[in-house]
Amino acid sequence: MGLSSYASAQVAQVIGDGIVRFDRSHEARLERKPSFALVQEFDSFGDVSLEHLPVVPSYSMDSETGRTVAAIQIEEGTSLYGTGECAGPLLRNGFVTETWNYDAFGYGLGAKNLYTSHPWVLAVRKDGTSFGVLADTTYRCEIDLRGGITFRAEGGDFPVVIIDGDSPQEVMKGLGILTGTIAMPPKWAVGYHQCRYSYNPDTRVKEVVNEFRARNLPADVIWMDIDYMDEYRVFTFDPEQFPDPKGLNQWLDSKGFANVWMIDPGVKDEDGYFVSDSGDEHDVWVRDKDGNVYNGNVWPGVCVFPDYLNKDVRNWWAGLYEEFMAYEIDGVWNDMNEPAVFNVESKTMPETNIHRADPELGGTDTHDRYHNVYGMQMIRATRDGVMAANPDKRPFVLSRANFIGGHRYGATWTGDNSANWAHLDMSIPMSINLSLSGQPFVGPDIGGFAYNGDGELFQRWMGFGTLFPFSRGHTAKGNIDKEPWAFGPEVEATSRRALERRYRLMPYMYTLFKESSVTGMPIMRPTFFADPADLALRSEDDSFLLGSDLLVVTKATPVGDRVSVMPAAVDGVEWAEFDFPDFKSGRDSKDENLPAMFIRPGSIIPSAPVTQHFGDRPDSRDELTLIIHTDATGMAHGWMYEDEGEGFGYLMGEFEVLEFSAYESDREVLVRVHSAAGDLRYPDRAIKARVIGSDKPVRVEYR
Ligand code: NOJ
Repeated sequence: MGLSSYASAQVAQVIGDGIVRFDRSHEARLERKPSFALVQEFDSFGDVSLEHLPVVPSYSMDSETGRTVAAIQIEEGTSLYGTGECAGPLLRNGFVTETWNYDAFGYGLGAKNLYTSHPWVLAVRKDGTSFGVLADTTYRCEIDLRGGITFRAEGGDFPVVIIDGDSPQEVMKGLGILTGTIAMPPKWAVGYHQCRYSYNPDTRVKEVVNEFRARNLPADVIWMDIDYMDEYRVFTFDPEQFPDPKGLNQWLDSKGFANVWMIDPGVKDEDGYFVSDSGDEHDVWVRDKDGNVYNGNVWPGVCVFPDYLNKDVRNWWAGLYEEFMAYEIDGVWNDMNEPAVFNVESKTMPETNIHRADPELGGTDTHDRYHNVYGMQMIRATRDGVMAANPDKRPFVLSRANFIGGHRYGATWTGDNSANWAHLDMSIPMSINLSLSGQPFVGPDIGGFAYNGDGELFQRWMGFGTLFPFSRGHTAKGNIDKEPWAFGPEVEATSRRALERRYRLMPYMYTLFKESSVTGMPIMRPTFFADPADLALRSEDDSFLLGSDLLVVTKATPVGDRVSVMPAAVDGVEWAEFDFPDFKSGRDSKDENLPAMFIRPGSIIPSAPVTQHFGDRPDSRDELTLIIHTDATGMAHGWMYEDEGEGFGYLMGEFEVLEFSAYESDREVLVRVHSAAGDLRYPDRAIKARVIGSDKPVRVEYR
């Protein structure tokens, strides 16, 4: 391959603490394309000499492909992660992927490109120090991790941003500064979600919801997939199967269920259909290279596609949600937004199509430039529309396609996985690598989307799937039922225990969402975050951390014979296993299908009584049980964040941060709880404490 090097002309600017942006040359800097990844235009602290920088990319041009190449050497023993949504193990050394959002139904291990694009690599050196590399380009970009880190992108020059940190955690916070953080979701979205393609008609939706409640299976959300629509026309309802969507949503609300409804980008091209007509009138559609409105087939047949790169189009699209949300819709699912097109080999629109992008986004240009951000700009518009329709509510949007930085607009799931053990296994590293690429609100289709699988698979997947940040069961059309009760009493019992664990851990989970929204730290983290210098943990991906204090160790093979590497003891104190007793019987019965949970030495995890959903308010709802594991000095610390779980009062001080500390002396364990910030108070709250591995009396002081 012919490479010509340009290294000498390279320029670098410091744009944040430990954050440097490189351009291939001074001219390339002047012509730099607007960034979609970055949350803002970063002012520079000035140019720096390359000699003083710890990590420097070298630019070259691949004369065969015409791609611009940026390569970063790595020291021996450096572990590589990130690269967004990638099928396969956690550790990415040796893999080659490409950013090109793709409708990858039934994808396999090692798929080159999936639904979202994150041209980003997190590198952890042997000693646990770390750096991250962003190739800030929206074009198709190969990420080659054989040897070092090499990006090969179409579309000419692109800047490379490098974040250097003492630890991978520091780098993740840097990525949060660079690309922004998630907004606090409504608390119901942190609960369990039940989906299928599709629950229809509306009586089936009600049946499923009634089963959840009758069987005491905690759940917060039910999803309406495409069959609710009138022949797949977006923003319509099938008059026979869903004659009264508002009534349905009100009924769901009375059962404590939030609702999420799907909207796709492909709009049926049909005279007399209001979205199609209004789009024609406002001239919103993506055009082909000859300037004609582009047509492609999706669910409703021949479709037209809004050009979300254009502000007027985004406003038009946002406006459609005013009437839609008035049906008391809570959340929106934007699917197929790579965009997926059925009747072509590429499965998407031609790269020569024309987008009339805003000047700030780069101006009119071809689809090859904007393909990877099409879904991101769609959910940006959706989010704006949802917010405008319900200004007092926190929006929830789930998107299949996205681009790095798109976590600012919505959550993501790992698309059309399959109901088999390989997919169960890789659902953990996939979600972790997305988390390490800046998307913390993530999870797989629990149970697997394609194919049926069996009860054993489902049972294991529910066992730990309830601990993903985004926790949703889903399955494809034509498959067997996959609700927690569908495989009989034993699988249902595991599912119940798993769901009860999530709801018990809600104070901790919700705090992690808050932490992520402030700092950019992932919610789900690799086990090596417990000790980044411990090389033995670098490829451990059957287990994961939630925050820094809770380790979840799964059995990701059918026989469960793979042994996870545990973080080392801290000053002689091991991570301690804990569980919650069975909610009904109060017994500590062991269920091998549930993952083991461990608490970090020196930490305190807040937990709550089981509730059936966010709005469930038993008398004990505000009660807290602190799970405590003291360190070698007998101390432990923790904190939690709480607010009303909906609305924006929290931005005006309506929240509470509680700080916990515990000290174990010869006689007792003294636990101190105090309100550290915020105006919200739960004065009658009972606070209990459970100290792992100690039978000393526990005294709780709550001030
Ligand atoms: C594709 C999505 O990935 C899947 O989750 C959904 O059920 C189908 N589209 C039908 O809408």
